Amino acid sequence: SKKPVRVAVTGAAGQIGYALLFRIASGEMLGKDQPVILQLLEIPDEKAQKALKGVMMELEDCAFPLLAGMEAHSDPMTAFKDTDYALLVGSRPRGPGMERAELLAINGAIFTTQGKALNAVASRDVKVLVVGNPANTNAYIAMKAAPDLKPGNFTAMLRLDHNRAASQLAAKTGKAVSSIKKLAVWGNHSPTMYADYRFATIDGASVKDMINDQVWNKDVFLPTVGKRGAAIIEARGLSSAASAANAAIDHMRDWALGTNGEWVTMGIPSQGWYGIPKEVMFGFPVTCANGEYTVVEGLDIDAFSQECINKTLAELQGEQDGVKHLL
Ligand code: NAI
Repeated sequence: SKKPVRVAVTGAAGQIGYALLFRIASGEMLGKDQPVILQLLEIPDEKAQKALKGVMMELEDCAFPLLAGMEAHSDPMTAFKDTDYALLVGSRPRGPGMERAELLAINGAIFTTQGKALNAVASRDVKVLVVGNPANTNAYIAMKAAPDLKPGNFTAMLRLDHNRAASQLAAKTGKAVSSIKKLAVWGNHSPTMYADYRFATIDGASVKDMINDQVWNKDVFLPTVGKRGAAIIEARGLSSAASAANAAIDHMRDWALGTNGEWVTMGIPSQGWYGIPKEVMFGFPVTCANGEYTVVEGLDIDAFSQECINKTLAELQGEQDGVKHLL
């Protein structure tokens, strides 16, 4: 049988953690033949550590055959030791009335510390997924704090936006969500993201031609996907957690195990693709194979799409400028 791999998860006692850990331990992320050791990080706060212990008791009670070990940590330097996968979920999202500078300063501190710790102690091939918001900029901060690791192994989660867009298109066309291929989401995980179905197909037929309604695209589809997070909060009284955890599983599974040629969306540091400046942590369509992602290149960008991409890029560059002094 396979040697266990180490999976670090931060914010492990939070909402997303509760929807995520059991699925990792059951093999849904890395395969039903891959044992895992969970290295769980929470803030040192007594309540958080106690809640983490409770989650670990429940993980024990599942008697998962693939769960080869489990550790609770309050220090990233021990939590990230030799880790092969790191899911950075814990962060400080923007609260009511919180100033942008304050938000960026708090997350700058968290993700600088965690990036340095990954740099010092993680596996040299660690695959990092940042879920905690602002996800793209947090991933950028961690990447910049980890100069000895491959920058391309720092990624941000756009997959929830991708999955949301796929479901909206399935509903609109009346087709199965699994039949939708070649969807792309460009840019920032924020309402400015650009979900792009111009290349999408269902059973080989063009989704754009099937829908044939640019007003729906602009006035219904894009705002629905962009504001979905807010709509969930409004309906549930809590932010999306199970769907976010599901997207994190999808992102890591596809990265590790491959997509068989199908497109998915990942937030990755640009190498200049589509005119996006180098290092900007941007959502791109990718395919994955052998543990590596490859950007889908050569897609035509029309005027409307370019406008959308410019807008989300400007927002991201603004965020990255805002943290420059912290790096
Ligand atoms: P939550 O508040 O329920 O849990 C967050 C946990 O992180 C808490 O237990 C907290 O103690 C812990 N934490 C905070 N700072 C930490 C640190 N420095 N190290 C370790 N643990 C730390 O929040 P929830 O609902 O689980 O969401 C987590 C994050 O994910 C939020 O930032 C949220 O905005 C973001 N999110 C991102 C999505 C995406 O698509 N990228 C989708 C949904 C949520």
